[in-house]
Amino acid sequence: MAAGERLIEFPHNFLWGAATSSYQIEGSPLADGAGPSIWHRFSHTPDRVHDGETGDVACDHYRRYADDVALMRRLGINAYRFSISWSRVMPRGRGATNPAGVDFYDRLVDALLANGIEPLVTLYHWDLPAALDDLGGWLNPEVAQWFAEYAAVMFRKLDDRVKLWTTLNEPWVSTDAGYLHGVHAPGHRSPFEAPIASHRLLLAHAEAVRTYRAEGRHRIGLVVNLEPKYAASDDAEDLAATVRADAYMNRQYLDPVFLGRYPEELAEVFGEAWPRWPADDLVLIRQPIDFIGVNYYTRSVTRFDPRAWPLRVAPVPQKRATHTETGWEVWAPGLTRVLTWVKERYGNPPVYVTENGAAFFDPPSLDGDRVADPLRVDYLRKHLAAVHAAIAGGVDVRGYFVWSLLDNFEWSAGYSKRFGIVHVDFETQTRTPKDSAGFYADVIASNGRVLSDKPS
Ligand code: BGC
Repeated sequence: MAAGERLIEFPHNFLWGAATSSYQIEGSPLADGAGPSIWHRFSHTPDRVHDGETGDVACDHYRRYADDVALMRRLGINAYRFSISWSRVMPRGRGATNPAGVDFYDRLVDALLANGIEPLVTLYHWDLPAALDDLGGWLNPEVAQWFAEYAAVMFRKLDDRVKLWTTLNEPWVSTDAGYLHGVHAPGHRSPFEAPIASHRLLLAHAEAVRTYRAEGRHRIGLVVNLEPKYAASDDAEDLAATVRADAYMNRQYLDPVFLGRYPEELAEVFGEAWPRWPADDLVLIRQPIDFIGVNYYTRSVTRFDPRAWPLRVAPVPQKRATHTETGWEVWAPGLTRVLTWVKERYGNPPVYVTENGAAFFDPPSLDGDRVADPLRVDYLRKHLAAVHAAIAGGVDVRGYFVWSLLDNFEWSAGYSKRFGIVHVDFETQTRTPKDSAGFYADVIASNGRVLSDKPS
């Protein structure tokens, strides 16, 4: 090696994955006996989603899954994180199962394994059965049991082949966007509901883990989105605001799961809306889990702002930085930072980066079918190097899943933001791997060596 050159190589058996979620790609939300989810209902409500777009067709993955699996194989992807639509499997959320819905995931898992791709299953990626929302959704005290019942059906069906399970995707977004700010389904806006929804999500997670210990033989974890908070100044109010933001977003779920307590700042944030939870609940929530899934997109530089409800924290735009199409600053060192923080705060659990990626406008190309996306390539290169730096620092990172395999339904932004490494023409459903897919394929084929610094 030349002097100054840094060799990058990932651990043996590292999972090189891609991630998606059910409502964002499947389409056919009511096919073959499936019931509606809260996202089906929300997207069909006027003015909730950009341009009135819905997941009715999305990437038509429900019908094209075999082609999508073949595509992953061509890219060399060896792991795939997908989520199960609860209301496809249990149309009313509890009680009767829908055999055709279960069968879809059964066939998907078989197709993945036949192509040498390890499945990582998420049981809940925001698409609660609408029938359960009619009963109060995540506010109903029984929701944890309903979730465990549904989870048990999937464990019994798939645990013979699925070795990696996660309960919830990003409970923070479920409550912050769904119950506090109302921008995601079910569209509520209440500081009283948000802490209740969070608590029920944590109980549901715990009941599913408990059920898994009885029914399953492999590993189960929780997926959280982490975003490091940097104080905009040394001013005491800015520092305190930044700690509040960190407690709310980064510690609200992991502290109860790993330490058996909520961060004390939450009582201050929510004031009279913060419930006093029974101590037994916190004991239950602290079920040992086998790994953490970390979703990372950006950081936030924060300052005190008395008008910003309810946290009294506002982001400070970083004018000289590169931003993605969703307005998120590109900040790769933050990924090393959150992974290192997880190791130090929670005792070095195994970690998978379960999502990381960027939406950029992908301009049409003059060069035939090529989709040149240099900004996404650069984003991935920097973030993969940041994952490697964390591993070099002793973090037990076992895999990386790019968000996303395909351009897809980006929630309230509809189809206006493209996160895929594979371009989807939503008129024809043609898939075209972007340059970033080729780059990722090279990373995978070399187990990360192509990320090594070149001698100048
Ligand atoms: C979610 C994905 C979403 C992505 C980009 C994550 O918060 O898990 O469903 O598409 O971020 O916004």
